[in-house]
Amino acid sequence: MQKTKSKIKIYGDAVLRKKAKPVVKITPDHSEILSRMAKTMYEDSGIGLAAPQIGISSQLIVVDIGEGLYKLINPKIVKKEGVQAITEGCLSVPGVCIKVKRSKKVWVEAKDENNKPVKIEAKDLFACVLQHEIDHLKGKLIIDYASFLEKIRIKRKLSALGSKLKTAELQL
Ligand code: NI
Repeated sequence: MQKTKSKIKIYGDAVLRKKAKPVVKITPDHSEILSRMAKTMYEDSGIGLAAPQIGISSQLIVVDIGEGLYKLINPKIVKKEGVQAITEGCLSVPGVCIKVKRSKKVWVEAKDENNKPVKIEAKDLFACVLQHEIDHLKGKLIIDYASFLEKIRIKRKLSALGSKLKTAELQL
């Protein structure tokens, strides 16, 4: 991968709250964006990244939990099962960790960069990351799962620390 990495958009940037547009026709531009997203994710030690996080409001995500890279276009959860709660971080919300309750297992359908259908059956951490990244495409962030008191604490922390801290266990 020789593409340059992109700058991560940080909480407060309006693009993170926009609903990402579905990709209507997959072009080489989308492959280029996905490669750039993968490079950005690896360089920032993330295990997942969604296009809005680099300022592109399109339904594109990349995920690699150490079992290979997935580049997904228009990903959709078609079935879910069970419950789990993992402490998550987010490259766009630096320094914040939140325990998020999600499905333990999800079935995801998407397209790859060659317009081929992709079907994924994911559980545990992989399921968690997919749900986190698909949330990004809906404009949803981990802080939305925080309790009222946690939200106050997080807001104070984010405004006090600026944006440079990265202490979360999982950067998604
Ligand atoms: Ni994230």
